[in-house]
Amino acid sequence: MTTLSVDRVRDALAGVNDPEIKRPITELGMVDDIAIQGDRVDVKVLLTVAACPMRDRLTKDVSAAVAALEGVRDVQVELGVMSDEQRQGLREQLRGGQATREIPFAQPGSLTKVYAIASGKGGVGKSSVTVNLALAMAETGLKVGVVDADVYGHSVPAMLGVGDQRPTQVDDMIMPVPVMDLKVMSVGMLKPRREQVVAWRGPMLDRALVQMLSDVYWGDLDALLLDLPPGTGDMAISLGQHLANAEVIVVTTPQAAAAEVAERAGTMASMMHQRVGGVVENMSYLACPHCGPEHKIEVFGSGGADRVAATLEQRFGYDVPVLGRIPLDEQLREGGDLGKPIVTAAPDSPAATELRQMAEALAGRSRGLAGMQLGLTPANQA
Ligand SMILES: Nc1ncnc2c1ncn2[C@@H]1O[C@H](COP(=O)(O)OP(=O)(O)OP(=O)(O)O)[C@@H](O)[C@H]1O
Ligand SMILES: [Mg+2]
Ligand SMILES: [Zn+2]
Repeated sequence: MTTLSVDRVRDALAGVNDPEIKRPITELGMVDDIAIQGDRVDVKVLLTVAACPMRDRLTKDVSAAVAALEGVRDVQVELGVMSDEQRQGLREQLRGGQATREIPFAQPGSLTKVYAIASGKGGVGKSSVTVNLALAMAETGLKVGVVDADVYGHSVPAMLGVGDQRPTQVDDMIMPVPVMDLKVMSVGMLKPRREQVVAWRGPMLDRALVQMLSDVYWGDLDALLLDLPPGTGDMAISLGQHLANAEVIVVTTPQAAAAEVAERAGTMASMMHQRVGGVVENMSYLACPHCGPEHKIEVFGSGGADRVAATLEQRFGYDVPVLGRIPLDEQLREGGDLGKPIVTAAPDSPAATELRQMAEALAGRSRGLAGMQLGLTPANQA
């Protein structure tokens, strides 16, 4: 029998990640004290901030990890709060010693692929596409972050079922909200109170975007998806200035009028020196309730995405593919309303299948961290 020791408890705690930062609590300086008395272990864990929404989860994870050790009958977890100096140390550690605020995704060596989901007009399904694409990409094993930059709607958190959650803030560093393998930050979460009406004008929008990109601790991401406000407004300009390397995905419906405005969004992207990565046609058709999916009822007409892609291709001189066509599906709307996106709620539906195919195509194209690790095999297994 191995004897219980502080080191063994510490080793066990190294398997517990902070739910928000997603790194071992032992590395983050969160394990303050370990005391062993017979078969009872007392662990003191320091939270980054007192109002940490993850305190129950952390208590449970710590208890479980220690209780699993041989010779332990009782685990007591005490929660404390980091001092200002401890927080400062953590912040410096997370930033890798970087003193000034900068946008990590805009750095030359960044491995994070940034996708800006744009549309000419509202209500075409941008947020639905963003959320479901992000989840489908995470399913392929990528680390994915979502920024809800839509100042008019900010519907992304609700679509993911975290509409009421606020991010934890460690001094001037903000932790994105973890949900379903994603990390999420919304411009709506930056407002002090939800009822407060904010007139988002140019400079303020710019500050909000920079804050979401540089003050938020994203960690290593393979992909970052941004849900932009509809149209070609200030947010698109800010994004172009701060993240020229973002790839713009244009969402449109099959309608001719929608296609026209979608083209404008694409042109805007190119003016900001961003590449248009492709076009998504949403609400593409309705599967006939009588004949099944072979009979596609074109509720909103047809040809929208093809037209946008062809126009942009001609204008820019590079290939602009139609990435996918998502049918009208009541489950998609319902999933959004209930905070259970269709990709996870009805994974076999034609809409979810199409979204997953798009995510796989994009993930395959991205030069993500996951891709870079391929081919590394531990020597003793070769
Ligand atoms: N393929 C679809 N089938 C059925 N309903 C859909 C589909 N796509 C989107 N919807 C529904 O249409 C509404 C608008 O979608 P969504 O909010 O994603 O669009 P948006 O472009 O982000 O809108 P906004 O401009 O308001 O931000 C939502 O209620 C959503 O659930
Ligand atoms: Mg939206
Ligand atoms: Zn039919």
